[in-house]
Amino acid sequence: MEKDKPVLRMALQKSGRLHDDSLKLLHEAGIRFSNGQGQLRIRTRNFPLELLFLRNSDIPNYIRDGVADVAIVGENLLVEKGEDLQTVLKLGFARCHLALALPRAVNYPGLSWWQGKRIATSYPNTLRKFLQEKGIDASIHTISGSVEIAPNIGLADGICDLVSSGSTLFQNRLKEVEKLLDSEAVLATRPGLDEEKQQVLDDLVFRLRSVLTASNNKYVLLNAPNDRLEEIKKILPGMKSPTVMPLAESGWSSVHSVISEDDFWEVIDQLKAVGAQGILIVPIEKMVV
Ligand code: PRP
Repeated sequence: MEKDKPVLRMALQKSGRLHDDSLKLLHEAGIRFSNGQGQLRIRTRNFPLELLFLRNSDIPNYIRDGVADVAIVGENLLVEKGEDLQTVLKLGFARCHLALALPRAVNYPGLSWWQGKRIATSYPNTLRKFLQEKGIDASIHTISGSVEIAPNIGLADGICDLVSSGSTLFQNRLKEVEKLLDSEAVLATRPGLDEEKQQVLDDLVFRLRSVLTASNNKYVLLNAPNDRLEEIKKILPGMKSPTVMPLAESGWSSVHSVISEDDFWEVIDQLKAVGAQGILIVPIEKMVV
């Protein structure tokens, strides 16, 4: 069956902040491949998918030109170089934001400070658009790396760069003053993928979504007196409704359900308050909804 399917070509970062988590996600989705040192092109063993390891900033062009069909990239790169590409699925890792920063000692009065200033960045298109929208006339110096050093060597007054933990800014005695956009890893493609490749992409998205949904949810098991079951069912809606099974001890039941990571602690507190006991929380490996 699989032989008849076209092979989808996926571009991945050769190195950089998305590389490791992208491979981990594919692995969790059950896609198997041997990741030999320095290999730039890998055919996966059990899914019609070929992986191409490319320089991050080149990836939008490869997708556009049809060299690759899909990619795992940061949203920041799509805004900068791939506005014609489509986001298929947000992947929830490599969260960061693009920000304007300047030397810590500067007393910053607000956006007007940037008027007439020199700003170093690897994101000239995104920055230009932002400055235009805000009515700021500043000169943009495009550099491809080590942007944060620019103010310290007199190349620029401030920078526009990605911030994740903030430690790079801190180490270079800079402070963030304006946020341009939030970013996370996404699966992206070009519009108009042919029908057969679209089918393979849909299968891939189905797998990835199952992994992502599972990681956002937990399986909960608890014991409860039968006279509290109605209250517990209201707290634990589950995927359809919770599973309720009688315990060997009469008057008690075991309740199983799924809860979202976001509501987790609040739900546990509510369950304890209505008499739930022996609460067990178990990670879910895959979740098909
Ligand atoms: C970005 C950015 C900073 C750093 C910020 O670089 O350019 O150097 O991350 O992260 P932090 O807030 O956690 O210190 P990235 O690693 O994406 O590589 P790049 O230098 O190729 O942009």
